[in-house]
Amino acid sequence: MNDQPHQSSSLTIQAGLASELHQHNRQLDDSAWIEVVQHMDSIYADLVHYQVELEEKNSALEDAQLFIQSVISSISDILIVCNINGEIQQVNHALEEVIGTTAEELSGKPISSLFSKKHLGLIAEFPEHIRSGSLIDCQIELISSDQKEIPMAINCCARFDHENRLSGMVVTGRPLGELRKAYSALHQAHEKLKTVNLQLIQSEKMASLGRLVAGVAHELNNPISFLYANMYALKNYQQKFKTYIDAVHANTSHDQLQKLRSQLGIDAMMDDINPLVEGSVEGAERISEIVQNLRKFTTPQEREKQSFNLIPVIKRAISWVLKAAKTNPEVIHNYPTEFYITNNEGYVHQILINLIQNAIDAMDHKDQPQLIITVNKDNNFAQLHIQDNGPGIKQQNLVKVFDPFFTTRAVGSGTGLGLYISYGLATEQCQGDLTVSNHKQGGAEFILSLPLEIDK
Ligand SMILES: Nc1ncnc2c1ncn2[C@@H]1O[C@H](COP(=O)(O)OP(=O)(O)OP(=O)(O)O)[C@@H](O)[C@H]1O
Ligand SMILES: [Mg+2]
Repeated sequence: MNDQPHQSSSLTIQAGLASELHQHNRQLDDSAWIEVVQHMDSIYADLVHYQVELEEKNSALEDAQLFIQSVISSISDILIVCNINGEIQQVNHALEEVIGTTAEELSGKPISSLFSKKHLGLIAEFPEHIRSGSLIDCQIELISSDQKEIPMAINCCARFDHENRLSGMVVTGRPLGELRKAYSALHQAHEKLKTVNLQLIQSEKMASLGRLVAGVAHELNNPISFLYANMYALKNYQQKFKTYIDAVHANTSHDQLQKLRSQLGIDAMMDDINPLVEGSVEGAERISEIVQNLRKFTTPQEREKQSFNLIPVIKRAISWVLKAAKTNPEVIHNYPTEFYITNNEGYVHQILINLIQNAIDAMDHKDQPQLIITVNKDNNFAQLHIQDNGPGIKQQNLVKVFDPFFTTRAVGSGTGLGLYISYGLATEQCQGDLTVSNHKQGGAEFILSLPLEIDK
């Protein structure tokens, strides 16, 4: 009986323990499940993430592949991609076009099957060359599906995989026909260019020859017209002398002879003969000088420089021009009797003739033509002013007068070379300058500056 309460309490305890255990177990089950579910959730989320990433990469890969495909198919050169054993992996559209076979038909075939048999040895060496790192550049024939040989300029180089291991080769090429066509077009263009160049040189030669001839003709014109005027005067004198001599031989009386002598101007003629002959000799010398210069033109050499008195050169130039001129201007000399410079006398004379001739031409219709020649010293230069009282030069023509062939004179009267030649002589040969302006009092004024001493 005593055991009864004891027994019942132990049962209660046991029942309590069991219930606690049961509860504990239930709690354990729940948290494990929650953990499993959470784990699965995270795996699933990862899977979704990987899936998205994969899809993105796939799409990028597709894009890249499309891009490469479009580039390859738009290349007009042929392209053959092989593995290291020389088996074709890919070709482009250009090759399909050239040989008339599709990429599928070619895939896996040896590259040597594309080329003429005579090049088999060379093609067999491709892999070896590529391994040694050299680029192959050669001319060989492709064989088309209808067995035609198509000459190509071929280039072969190595292909590497993503780990930079040699994985094959890439062959590119261009039909030689096209290159030959391009080369022949280039050759033709070059030949044409050479011909045009030759023509240009020829026409430039002709133009400079024309300028030279025109220049020589211009320079010869002055002494020739001077000689012509002298000869004309001498011929006239000869007629008068003949009349007088005839009268002497016809036993004419002394008084009548005296009368005839003054009528014919025999004494004045006698005085004039010497200057006329001297002037003519001078003119002839000038012509010979021009001809000699022309000879020197082919083998240019330095013309002699010398110290000379400028004044007689000026006087001689005035007399030359006036002898042959229709106008007889008043000449005003503003210079000393001596003015020595060192230069080329002939050139200075030539320039002065042209300037004085122009001044005389400009005063052609002037009532009281006046030519003023002034010489003064300006630092290390002698300055010669040639001034006239003609119409002057129009403002817009002042910059053109030294241009070759610029003339305002009637067609056939002037060549427009006088000032062009003079400017060249003054600035280059004489190392001086030649300028032009209109004078305040009217008329044109040319200033020829000449160094007192010339360098060489
Ligand atoms: N003193 C001057 N007064 C007015 N115009 C002048 C004078 N000197 C030159 N010119 C102008 O300059 C132009 C060019 O002179 P330039 O001596 O070069 O040739 P040109 O006298 O016409 O012909 P040429 O070749 O026969 O000498 C002349 O046509 C004229 O218009
Ligand atoms: Mg002139």
